[in-house]
Amino acid sequence: MNPYESQALLDQYLLFHYGSADEILPYSGGPVTALEFPRRSVADNIDPSVPRARALDLGCAVGRSSFELSAFCSEVVGIDLSEQFIKAAEHLRKEGELTYHRLEEGKISTELVARRPEKSRPERIRFEAGNALDLSCRLGKFDVLHAANLLCRLPEPEQFLSSLPGLVAKDGLLILTTPCTWLGEFTTPENWPIEPTAQWLKEKLSAKFNLLNFRDMPFLIREHARKYQWSMAQASVWKRK
Ligand SMILES: C[S@@+](CC[C@H](N)C(=O)[O-])C[C@H]1O[C@@H](n2cnc3c(N)ncnc32)[C@H](O)[C@@H]1O
Repeated sequence: MNPYESQALLDQYLLFHYGSADEILPYSGGPVTALEFPRRSVADNIDPSVPRARALDLGCAVGRSSFELSAFCSEVVGIDLSEQFIKAAEHLRKEGELTYHRLEEGKISTELVARRPEKSRPERIRFEAGNALDLSCRLGKFDVLHAANLLCRLPEPEQFLSSLPGLVAKDGLLILTTPCTWLGEFTTPENWPIEPTAQWLKEKLSAKFNLLNFRDMPFLIREHARKYQWSMAQASVWKRK
């Protein structure tokens, strides 16, 4: 079963995308710079004061980055393989809020409410369940393609990279982030890059994209009240030739 269809990961991702600092990390001395990753993966990598036309958010999960993109892109398509993640994102798009549970420990949880970001434009967004490795050609081309922490969750990451030139319009921006967590449960080891991921991306993308920058972006996922995953994603921004 796809782990992203479980109730535990749905609750974890709703907290990751929509939880406040206090809801996620109610301790002093924690890694606060790792909070709000799904907002920063957009805001730190593209200038939101420049309006754009079409944006595609691949592996959008429960939708936070799609809502961020909708503030300055006139059309946003958010696609994820997990039907229940898309259902939650669509509920937030339509209703503005969604109740979920934050795990404290064992069988104890706290009810919280995820809220759609205020500056978002829900009428500009379409959420769809779909496979990033088998996208319909009817999607067309995009001025912004955002794929945060999707690459190392794919069975065929190289096939995915090969499809990107066909999805990004000339002068369009591609924002890729990945914590380079290559795991056999998602990607058979034969399909892992045999060199550092950054080097591999340069080799695979440079013919059709100009590299604008690489940066390190921390993120924090709370598993329960006393256990967190702190990771450092490698973000890269590319401009279609
Ligand atoms: C590590 S999460 C990242 C989610 C989100 N972009 C973020 O930064 O929080 C990976 C996401 O990719 C989705 N995913 C995995 N394989 C996929 C595929 N083949 N096509 C589309 N989405 C996929 C998962 O369901 C999950 O939501």
